[in-house]
Amino acid sequence: MSELFLRACRREPVDTTPVWFMRQAGRYMAEYRALREKHTLLELCKTPELATMVTMQPLKLGVDAAILFADILLPLEPMGAPFEFAKGEGPVVHSPIRTREDVDRLRVFDPEEGLGYVLAAIRMLRKELDGKVPLIGFAGAPFTIASYLVEGGKSSDYRKAKLLMWTEPETWRILMEKISEVVRRYLLAQIEAGAQAVQLFDSWVGSLAPADYDTHVFPHVKSILSAVEKTGVPVIHFGTHTAPLLERMRDAGGTVIGVDHHSHIDEAWSRIGFDHGVQGNLDPLLLLAPHDIAKVHATRILEQVGARPGHIFNLGHGIVPEVPVDNVRRMIDHVHETSAKLRKGTGA
Ligand code: CP3
Repeated sequence: MSELFLRACRREPVDTTPVWFMRQAGRYMAEYRALREKHTLLELCKTPELATMVTMQPLKLGVDAAILFADILLPLEPMGAPFEFAKGEGPVVHSPIRTREDVDRLRVFDPEEGLGYVLAAIRMLRKELDGKVPLIGFAGAPFTIASYLVEGGKSSDYRKAKLLMWTEPETWRILMEKISEVVRRYLLAQIEAGAQAVQLFDSWVGSLAPADYDTHVFPHVKSILSAVEKTGVPVIHFGTHTAPLLERMRDAGGTVIGVDHHSHIDEAWSRIGFDHGVQGNLDPLLLLAPHDIAKVHATRILEQVGARPGHIFNLGHGIVPEVPVDNVRRMIDHVHETSAKLRKGTGA
């Protein structure tokens, strides 16, 4: 099996930098679009055979890890807050959670009962992958999940969530505790089912002031990650626009910290500390640029990191649907070839 990704998570030396991409299964691939003509996104997530098929699609491009095909919002339904992916609008939560009564009605559920289809997909994937590359499981972090629950959908500034957090801190605390308990159980169940690493997506936490992160988010993320890290499975702690929060995110937990494209990766890594791995940090839109241009940026990242073990090459955020598949394939090859050359000292 390709051990590159798991070795890098553990900061063991590797000959080649491992690479995978957030949203590596998705609309930029023709095979995915063809399946989406027949099935909704939720059908793909809820049918283990289909979720397995979609997870496998990008592997032929040469990535070093598979990420389970699912969505961070799947726990909302068993919590008692059903949602749909509305065309052109993104996720829509039918009855947003805005009062203490709403929060009290949310359920903390057993993952096998509420999200058994995800766990079934993980078991099926481990057989299908047959050791080829490791499987990454994932969940959303409490702030990012709460932003959807409270806003009722996507938001540009999370004003309803922030106002609940500031004006009703006790309601917010109970909401975060409930989500944290769900996420903690869910990640442990994914590991039990066979996930070989897990990523916690706190995609929107970078919208918070550091003081609000400390008071209203940090203890909850820490409670999840300290439980998950006890399993010994590597944990990637990811967010965007998190440059001012990186030390805090590290303290909240994670074997590997996600670094988006708004930071220099070497500066970010020295702040995080070399006793942690880092994942990132190519601007996702560079995959839209001609490969000759994109590869210069990728080489810069690899040179900044140097031979220090513990770097996983990824984007700062997910692949956008307009990316040509060939650009993805060429980027993966470029990262492999260039990182190997840099390690041998033969130059890029
Ligand atoms: O990365 C992967 O390949 C694994 C699958 C995955 C999906 N969503 C499938 C998906 C993962 C890891 C996610 C995480 C997710 N979902 C996040 C955190 C990561 C991030 O992007 O910051 C968030 C915030 C969500 C919520 C979500 N799901 C939104 C806001 C949307 C609509 C916006 C959009 O891109 O259309 C989704 C839909 C979604 N989830 C798609 C995919 C592949 C879009 C594809 C489709 O409609 O077929």
